[in-house]
Amino acid sequence: MIPQATSFILALATLLESTLASDNGLALTPQMGWNTWNTFACNINEDTILGAAKALKELKLDEYGYHYVVMDDCWSLHQRNATGYLQYDPVKFPKGIKHLADEIHALGLGFGMYSSAGRYTCGRYPGSLNFEEKDADLFAEWEVDYLKYDNCHNEGQSGTPLISYNRYEVMSRALNKTGRPILYSMCNWGEDSPWDWAPTIANSWRMSGDIVNVFDRYDDRCPCDDYICRLPGHHCSIMNIINKAAPLGQKAHTGAWNDLDMLEIGNDNLDYEEQKLHFSIWAMVKSPLIMGHDIMHTSKQTLEILTNKDIIDLSQGNWGVAYRSYKKEHSQLWLQDAKDKSGNIVVALINNGNKDDDFTINFEDIFLDEWDRRKVGYKVMDLWTKEDLGVVKHKLKVKVKRHGIFVGKLAFAGDPSLKPKVKKYHAEPDEL
Ligand SMILES: *[C@@H]1O[C@H](CO)[C@@H](O)[C@H](O)[C@H]1NC(C)=O
Ligand SMILES: *[C@@H]1O[C@H](CO)[C@@H](O)[C@H](O)[C@H]1NC(C)=O
Repeated sequence: MIPQATSFILALATLLESTLASDNGLALTPQMGWNTWNTFACNINEDTILGAAKALKELKLDEYGYHYVVMDDCWSLHQRNATGYLQYDPVKFPKGIKHLADEIHALGLGFGMYSSAGRYTCGRYPGSLNFEEKDADLFAEWEVDYLKYDNCHNEGQSGTPLISYNRYEVMSRALNKTGRPILYSMCNWGEDSPWDWAPTIANSWRMSGDIVNVFDRYDDRCPCDDYICRLPGHHCSIMNIINKAAPLGQKAHTGAWNDLDMLEIGNDNLDYEEQKLHFSIWAMVKSPLIMGHDIMHTSKQTLEILTNKDIIDLSQGNWGVAYRSYKKEHSQLWLQDAKDKSGNIVVALINNGNKDDDFTINFEDIFLDEWDRRKVGYKVMDLWTKEDLGVVKHKLKVKVKRHGIFVGKLAFAGDPSLKPKVKKYHAEPDEL
């Protein structure tokens, strides 16, 4: 072999060695779409999924950024075939998964697949642990665009970040090796601090136990209040997840996002105010926005919430990841900086108390480190009512409904010569 070819092969080997899912060019903004689980659980088939994809298209949700149609658990047979490959359930999918993917692609949408980094999936179908390459190859052959990768039946391969990393990294490499860009959505429920190690291998990672459509409730099935948690569980309320997510924004960056779990918008039980609050914070912290309601029966109100362009812009537009300024007994203040030099800032006041209330937001709590910016005036727009609230100085007074949220955009409104120099609160790692 001539030396040049040898060094080429060595270089190629080194390149393959350092493959990272977050280098797949996907999820440059948090992924948006719809997932079967919250509405259909295991009752899925070709008709339900295609029906949902068509509904998404008819509602024009794709024009707002909702792109992926993700098929969750229970799509396969209980056995692999004789050569060790997963087999789709031919009753649920008479024309096969590739056909389903083709139909979804024909609508201009992306198709998501599901498996678990365990012996079984959560629904006890075969999982991908020790079969990563075979499964990734099959998914690529079916032209899958997205993999939600769960954590059930992981055979005890968790407990330290390195053990979990190693288990999830195998699939990351297998996906990369297929040559097909497949968005890698890790679903390990925040175990072993994935925000510390997942950004180099995955596009997003769940940071808590499973969500439930309850605003705020203690539940032993979701025992932790804090992001460091030995038993992530499920039935985690909206406020429980928000409180866990608050300090984690600093770990997110382009192509690598904290996933606060699927949206409960349109799933009963949460009132209008609670749903707007839920949607706002998920957008502001740049969680994936994956709908989970019965999309074929979307109400006007659900559609109105899911298509608020100003709120979606906080997720998909030129804004940093939101952070929390304070948490009081009945209220929280969240902030989100523009990534340009405009000095615009988004201010969100959560009223998690049990009555409608008046709040005063002081500029000291908005411009935490930038003293000169506290002195000038800002023009305020309410991003839910679209009301122009005029120019305010020093403080902002807002009325917020019980379990509601005020989300306002503040834009510098003074004499341009007095415009304070804008400093970013925190730069994302990819901008340093
Ligand atoms: C595989 O990883 C390499 C290196 O990180 C990257 O350049 C490439 O785009 C990845 N390919 C796919 C298909 O994800
Ligand atoms: C198992 O499934 C794979 C992927 O669909 C296929 O290529 C292979 O031929 C199957 N093996 C058998 C023995 O049916």
